Amino acid sequence: MGFLTGKKIVVMGVANKRSIAWGCAQAITEQGGEVIYTYQNDRMKKSLEKMLNGDEFLVECDVADDDSIKNAFDQIKDYAGQINGVVHAVAFADKDDLQGNVSDISRKGYSLAQDISSYSLIAVTHYAKPLLAEGSGIVTLTYFGSQRAVPNYNMMGIAKASLEAAVRYLATEFAQDQVHVNAISAGAVKTLAVTGVKDYNKLIQLSQERTADEVSVTTNEIGNVCAFLVSPLASGVIGETIFVDKGVHLS
Ligand SMILES: NC(=O)c1ccc[n+]([C@@H]2O[C@H](COP(=O)([O-])OP(=O)(O)OC[C@H]3O[C@@H](n4cnc5c(N)ncnc54)[C@H](O)[C@@H]3O)[C@@H](O)[C@H]2O)c1
Repeated sequence: MGFLTGKKIVVMGVANKRSIAWGCAQAITEQGGEVIYTYQNDRMKKSLEKMLNGDEFLVECDVADDDSIKNAFDQIKDYAGQINGVVHAVAFADKDDLQGNVSDISRKGYSLAQDISSYSLIAVTHYAKPLLAEGSGIVTLTYFGSQRAVPNYNMMGIAKASLEAAVRYLATEFAQDQVHVNAISAGAVKTLAVTGVKDYNKLIQLSQERTADEVSVTTNEIGNVCAFLVSPLASGVIGETIFVDKGVHLS
């Protein structure tokens, strides 16, 4: 028995075992929750299927496409009826916009990153809203580059600032239905997404050196906080961005 026993949580964004979403899914399962997985495309589906035991409910959800999001939550409704939480661990920006000058970012690159990395939370909450039981939690993933000018994080830093603002507004709206919305600002972890940032090894190394004990945060540690934040235990935490970075943001 854990604090998520009997709860059904949608986890979006597992690409492989290094994914932060996978750390979240593991922690939710450890607390007795059932994870409903969404995946971006067939390639991600294949990867996910290799990691699971075959009993889980999986559904395609490309957050760039409203019909795909609607269809995913329709299928989730048919399967589960109600859900108790959503973990949004999805982001994308063009490689060109994760290096060089911010003043060179194109309108197209800006829109793409904002669409997938920030607007998608709004679109997902729109379709998830009718399914969310009282006491549900929604969690998204952000990074310190929203507040500081981290070398090469560029476009994603701008998108994460927008995402964090969206969390505050959505949190105010959803709290009226007893649903809490929050963000985790995770420390740097070597995942597929991070490798898009130029010199990402430097970013990870710098982050590790700035932790309180020089040991980087793990996806397990991020997942544990996520499990708490989607649960009813976090009903008093509304619109927060909680650092899970082993203290990197302190220095
Ligand atoms: N890795 C880090 O250091 C770090 C730090 C802080 C925050 N984050 C954030 O954590 C979240 C998860 O990223 P990650 O680092 O685990 O990397 P990851 O590459 O494992 O996960 C990113 C996921 O986004 C999904 N995605 C991209 N475009 C999509 C689309 N159109 N539709 C549906 N899904 C789509 C990918 O399929 C993938 O599963 C992201 O929001 C990322 O910005 C990462």
